[in-house]
Parts: sequence; structure tokens; C-alpha cells
Amino acid sequence: MRALVVYESMFGNTAQIAQAVADGMADGEDVTITDVVDAPESIPPDVDLVVVGAPTHVFSLSRVGTRRKAARRGGAFTDVPEGVREWLEHLPSSERRLAFAAFDTRVDDMALLPGAASHAATRLAKERSFDAAEPASFLVEGYEGPLVEGELERAREWGHGLTEHLAG
Ligand SMILES: Cc1cc2nc3c(=O)[nH]c(=O)nc-3n(C[C@H](O)[C@H](O)[C@H](O)COP(=O)(O)O)c2cc1C
Repeated sequence: MRALVVYESMFGNTAQIAQAVADGMADGEDVTITDVVDAPESIPPDVDLVVVGAPTHVFSLSRVGTRRKAARRGGAFTDVPEGVREWLEHLPSSERRLAFAAFDTRVDDMALLPGAASHAATRLAKERSFDAAEPASFLVEGYEGPLVEGELERAREWGHGLTEHLAG
């Protein structure tokens, strides 16, 4: 089985979760992990599972404007105005019904509010005929992080569960 993990991260927290998710995938999986700015424009034919991760910005996936706001707070910003939202929107339609799962990071004291990047990503994926699993959120302590204690371990377990589910 081959998995592609595509993430977007302004302050590095979602990147850390993405690495933990990839690490947690069952032994023997062939996992490619990539920043969205380097992600392929279409899903390679040998990929069976696509996982995307993104920070929650204004209760959803980021947009150019919210990425600029993050950059003004010290986050990374490249001139490539592409995040996970745009990457998913621009994927060509596929005949294959590929397995998909999305996660996001969000601030712990806003966690009861509805709306998260992973929910928006899952909606976009379903519109593109992906077979989407339940999304997951991982918590940070503030806009810049750090991750709440225990979240890296939970991310490894979540990644493991995705591949176990597919194998079963
Ligand atoms: C412009 C902006 C809007 C945000 N909106 C939300 C939000 O609606 N809900 C939330 O829980 N966190 C929100 N956050 C916090 C981000 O989720 C947090 O910065 C992110 O999880 C950190 O991940 P990263 O280090 O990968 O960028 C926002 C952050 C920025 C910069």
C-alpha cells in the first residue's frame, strides 16, 4: 500500500503532526510526506491512501489572506499562494475511489467552536469522489503552538488506525 501525506503549516505544528501520522502508519507502508507547495498536481496512480493536514484558519481551511495574517505573526509564507484548499480544488477528477483522511490543528480553547480545516477538506474530497474517513483535530496551545502534550502520540495512533482500517 502506498500513502501520500500532504500538509500545510505556518508555524510548524501541523508539519510535526503530519510526520507523526506518517510514522504511525503500519510497518511496511510506503509513505510519502510532502509540504503542499511541493505536492504532485494529480494523485500518482500507485497511491491508495491520501491524507491531508492543515491548520484551522477562521473555522476552515486557510486562504491567501489568512496565510498572510499568519505570516505577519511570524509564520512561514511563500509566494506560492497554494494551500491544501487550492490543492484539493485543483486536483483532476479521478475514476478511482481513493481512500482519504483529513486532519487539522486548532487552538485548544477554541475546540468547542464548530468549523475546522479537516471538515472543509473532507467536504472537498467527497465532492471529488474520495472515500473519506472521519476527520481528526489535534490541539495547539495558541496560534503559534506549541502542540498540547500527548498530541504527537495521538497522531501516531491515528495514522496507525488509518492503515489498519484499510488493511482490514
Ligand atoms: C488567521 C488565523 C486564523 C485562525 N483561526 C482559527 C480558528 O478559527 N480556530 C482555531 O481553533 N484556530 C485558529 N487559528 C489558529 C491555528 O489553527 C493555529 O495557528 C495552527 O493550528 C498552527 O498550526 P501551524 O503551526 O501548522 O501553522 C488561526 C490562526 C490564524 C493565523
